[in-house]
Amino acid sequence: MAEDLQVITGSKQEQYEALLPQIEALISGEPDLIANLANVSAALFQQFKWLWVGFYIVRGDELVLGPFQGPIACTRIRKGKGVCGTSWERAETLVVPDVEKFPGHIACSSLSRSEIVVPLIDKGNVWGVLDVDSIELNDFDAVDKKYLELLVTRIVNAAQ
Ligand code: SME
Repeated sequence: MAEDLQVITGSKQEQYEALLPQIEALISGEPDLIANLANVSAALFQQFKWLWVGFYIVRGDELVLGPFQGPIACTRIRKGKGVCGTSWERAETLVVPDVEKFPGHIACSSLSRSEIVVPLIDKGNVWGVLDVDSIELNDFDAVDKKYLELLVTRIVNAAQ
């Protein structure tokens, strides 16, 4: 049985540093991808209190909504569309300080003000994205990029 997540205080970096080993423990030894994506969404949501945290999975030429925490969301996003579809197309992390200034941003929630999307890449192939939305403008920076990229690497490795 999973133990309660220890919610951490401190700087954002300290929070990530303490949270990542807990997430690692959650997903190690569990081969089921959906179970792991669900628990990772919950752990990030519980720690950081973001508006929305979750995954979209590549299905053909679309991203389809996967496990997430937060308000209901758009279910399908085409390649190259919105922040998620652009991250998929470019196979790179996108940090968007103000979603209203991102051409083609898809507003699943009117409360979302800033966003980070990290692609899940296995041997050069993007098979999903981690999407995080905040009600604060400019909520994501190089620290989030570093640790969320590290986290998705663990997820990709655990999925093999
Ligand atoms: N804003 C995203 C869509 C997904 S929701 O934020 C959950 C985008 O532009 O791709």
